[in-house]
Amino acid sequence: MKILAVIGQKGGNAKTTTALGVAVAATAAGKTVAVIDLDPQPSAANWGDRRGIADSPAVIACPAARLRPVLDGARNQGVDLVIIDTPGKSADASIEAAKVADMVLLPVQPHLGDIETLRNVKDILTLAGNPRAAVVVSRARLQGRRHIEAVEAVKTMGFEVCPVVMFDRAAHYDAGMVGKTATEFAPGSKAAEEMLSLYSYTNSVLYETRATNHEEANRARRRA
Ligand SMILES: Nc1ncnc2c1ncn2[C@@H]1O[C@H](COP(=O)(O)OP(=O)(O)OP(=O)(O)O)[C@@H](O)[C@H]1O
Ligand SMILES: [Mg+2]
Repeated sequence: MKILAVIGQKGGNAKTTTALGVAVAATAAGKTVAVIDLDPQPSAANWGDRRGIADSPAVIACPAARLRPVLDGARNQGVDLVIIDTPGKSADASIEAAKVADMVLLPVQPHLGDIETLRNVKDILTLAGNPRAAVVVSRARLQGRRHIEAVEAVKTMGFEVCPVVMFDRAAHYDAGMVGKTATEFAPGSKAAEEMLSLYSYTNSVLYETRATNHEEANRARRRA
């Protein structure tokens, strides 16, 4: 079972949209997917209620302190991919999610105020044992070069950057309102294509990366 965590220290920078978009794309690709919502304002779980299609993907809301037993339950039920959505301003929940993750996605908007929060995110990743992590420039304006400048700024800070920029497109917003993601709401649209590209990038990192420290530690624990 692979674990993807979506974290950030700023509200509204597309964490939930990213988590759900990747979850639905993975489900459509035939994986058994569970989304774990650690946000006390449970936007992902509410989306699941609006969606009304059980287990496609499963969405489970739980406090960060329950993360590990919930992950064990998912593993026992044969889940292929868990995606953890986290609150905007809780270092504790972000650390817990990053600690167990094989990969961490860090959506940021291409604004200085967002990019500056990445310093704090770096500390969180260090505390979590430095899992593989990539910044996703999200909600980028179609006009101008801000997203290109943001990519450069984030690289200068020492982060890996996802090659896919998620532009501000109405389909993401509209899809969420009816419990869907852009790939379902507007198939073939640019919003859908960008989400599929993000999924494909995430998938390639998750499945090409050598076993993470976390997985190795888990195996060692099971052997003991
Ligand atoms: N690429 C995008 N284009 C247009 N709208 C977007 C995009 N990404 C996210 N949104 C919208 O922006 C808003 C915030 O996104 P989202 O809820 O995913 O952020 P979040 O980081 O999870 O927020 P919070 O910190 O409150 O949990 C939502 O209304 C969502 O539909
Ligand atoms: Mg959210």
